Amino acid sequence: MSLELLRRKDLFRQDAFWGGAWKPGNPDLKIEVLNPATLGILGRVPSLGQKETLEAIQISVHAFRDWSARPAKERSILIRTWSDLMKKNREDLAILMTLEQGKPLNESRAEIDYAASFLEWFSEEGKRVYGDLIPSHRRDTRIEVIKEAVGVCGILTPWNFPSSMITRKAGAALAAGCTVIGKPSELTPFSALALAVLAQEAGIPEGVFQVLTGYPEEIANTLIDSSDVRKISFTGSTRVGKLIMERSAKTLKRLSLELGGNAPFLVFDDADLEEAVKGAILSKFRNAGQTCVCANRFLVQKGIYQDFISLFSESVLKLKVGNGLEKDTAIGPLISEMAVQKVESHIQDAIDRGGKLQLGGNRLESGKLFFSPTIISEISEDSLSMREEVFGPVAPIYQFKTMEEGIEIANSTPSGLASYAFTKDYRKMQFIAENLQAGMVGINEGLISTEQVPFGGLKESGFGREGSKYGIHEYLNVKYVCIGGF
Ligand code: SIN
Repeated sequence: MSLELLRRKDLFRQDAFWGGAWKPGNPDLKIEVLNPATLGILGRVPSLGQKETLEAIQISVHAFRDWSARPAKERSILIRTWSDLMKKNREDLAILMTLEQGKPLNESRAEIDYAASFLEWFSEEGKRVYGDLIPSHRRDTRIEVIKEAVGVCGILTPWNFPSSMITRKAGAALAAGCTVIGKPSELTPFSALALAVLAQEAGIPEGVFQVLTGYPEEIANTLIDSSDVRKISFTGSTRVGKLIMERSAKTLKRLSLELGGNAPFLVFDDADLEEAVKGAILSKFRNAGQTCVCANRFLVQKGIYQDFISLFSESVLKLKVGNGLEKDTAIGPLISEMAVQKVESHIQDAIDRGGKLQLGGNRLESGKLFFSPTIISEISEDSLSMREEVFGPVAPIYQFKTMEEGIEIANSTPSGLASYAFTKDYRKMQFIAENLQAGMVGINEGLISTEQVPFGGLKESGFGREGSKYGIHEYLNVKYVCIGGF
């Protein structure tokens, strides 16, 4: 069962897409893309570099002149058509995603819906980019404020959400009038290329949306160093985000950085236990724990600690790990051997520091990258998994006594992306929401991602907001115009 499942075989492209054409690149420089469930080769894509990136930038500069000058409604219709085509081809796009990324097919379907929703959302938002008329300081002048597209944008996207991270950025950029050069992860390029097929089919003009495949460094550095590229939007690790920011200083580029998280998941004594466990499963094990907003640290108050561990363990035991194409799979493989090794090192470190392995902790025989969902109780505060993002199906559980202590521990890391808390007390909810240092807070809710909300972090989790009414402003410049002579 694999690529034969696709109804539209043309959605599987092994070329890159730039300058309005599909090009194979240098035949001697190819990247093999593996299916993480079977470790079989799914296909090959061009390994492009500086030369092709410079070419794509010039094409993008040229395309920007026409695209940014079009009426917003004209752009909107094309972006909306792109979204509709995604919905129409949902099943094929989902299968492709599961094949290259590993997540269960149901999660891939949900991601395609999520990805298409950003295109739909921004096709609407693009029509509502209003300026201002400001009462003037003089009789003979008039003051206006207009919003203009930033220009050519480079978008650097990760493997964990191969479609939605692209549309969340590209939808906003295109609606604002910008042109986009996308660089997907070399681990999951096929979802991005399928999006390019549909963008072309939707009538998005040549050079407006291009996809370059390859290893990150050369393409990203060329985009960052070019003064023709006016904005970089990146989703990925804090380490790489800092390098991008440093390098962007040379051309003072606008940046949006959606970086690593280390989300606390607080369960207070007065929480609804079943709801908390439901939220914990969703938040921790979606995408095998490979999301930036995943619960990374479970902080559970003393009075509910044992009950939470019992019910959580009972529920986790029911999660089937396997190939994402199989019907009842709840957790797919991890993305790579390196990812599995990181998970193993976090677990070993936790045990070495006194943590108690409640469940899991091992690779599974069904496949090299399959890992059992793991729960570790009595975790010590200095464990690696309390300080760093594990990016895998591991749930370390720490016990706290008072609300103040819980919040203090929750805030004790340099990250500030998402955070979660479960309580039935309304006053506590508000206090917690205002005191957690995170860009996003889920109260009695483990899944908070949707297109209407401003997605983004604080502290070392980066800056900029994606989705929502705020997302499009990341791709707009504010220009003040003073007209004299009245
Ligand atoms: C991410 O992990 O970066 C994105 C997750 C989401 O949008 O829910």
